[in-house]
Amino acid sequence: MRLDKFLADMNAGTRSEIKKAIRKGLVQVDGTMVKNPGEHVTEASAVSYDGRQIPYEPFSYYMLNKPQGVITATEDRRQQTVLDLLPADRRRDLSPVGRLDKDTEGLLLITNDGDLNHRLLSPRSHVGKRYFARIQGVVDTKDVEAFANGLLLPDGLRCLPAKLEILSSGETSEIEIVIEEGKFHQIKRMFEAVGKRVIYLKRLSMGSLTLDPALPTGQWRRLTETEVRNLKDL
Ligand code: URA
Repeated sequence: MRLDKFLADMNAGTRSEIKKAIRKGLVQVDGTMVKNPGEHVTEASAVSYDGRQIPYEPFSYYMLNKPQGVITATEDRRQQTVLDLLPADRRRDLSPVGRLDKDTEGLLLITNDGDLNHRLLSPRSHVGKRYFARIQGVVDTKDVEAFANGLLLPDGLRCLPAKLEILSSGETSEIEIVIEEGKFHQIKRMFEAVGKRVIYLKRLSMGSLTLDPALPTGQWRRLTETEVRNLKDL
């Protein structure tokens, strides 16, 4: 790839700032000053910028504990997006993996690894997404059966079988549910179909990736190498 792209991908600055810096002689490749922004480099090249080594990482992976009130989008003129919660010097090609509603909390993976993003969301990959929910209404074993059989929603959508686990049942019930698809408002619509209402929803995991219990709501951290490896081993 070009030297200026290498540095832009690693958030060293805008393309024009980087080009200027290269022409000024601030950039070295494998120990030699390079003044051509189009110089060919590889991911293995030892690039330094203003004396600082810049290793190339083709992909970045962030875990966000999404708070309520923030939309799952890459940009929006009026509302705060999940990407606004990441550091300002993040790379520009990141996307959230799947969508959580504005009032849903919890695990959101954000990455520029398009292949992994696609594989995690494809129903053919059978990646389970586990949620905790508080439900207005008594959730009972009939619901567990109906969810396991694949609910038919009023608009004709047939859901894939979902695993519903009752934690407590009463006027307000608490449950955990695992679904392998992610249609618009899916869990809310599934409960509406059995005459109940989701009043709180939080995603706990996606495939092998579990929300870090030490990560406060609204905070992010980078995935560990093991977490990335396990996700890729779908
Ligand atoms: N199902 C929903 O209804 N909302 C979400 O945010 C995620 C799953």
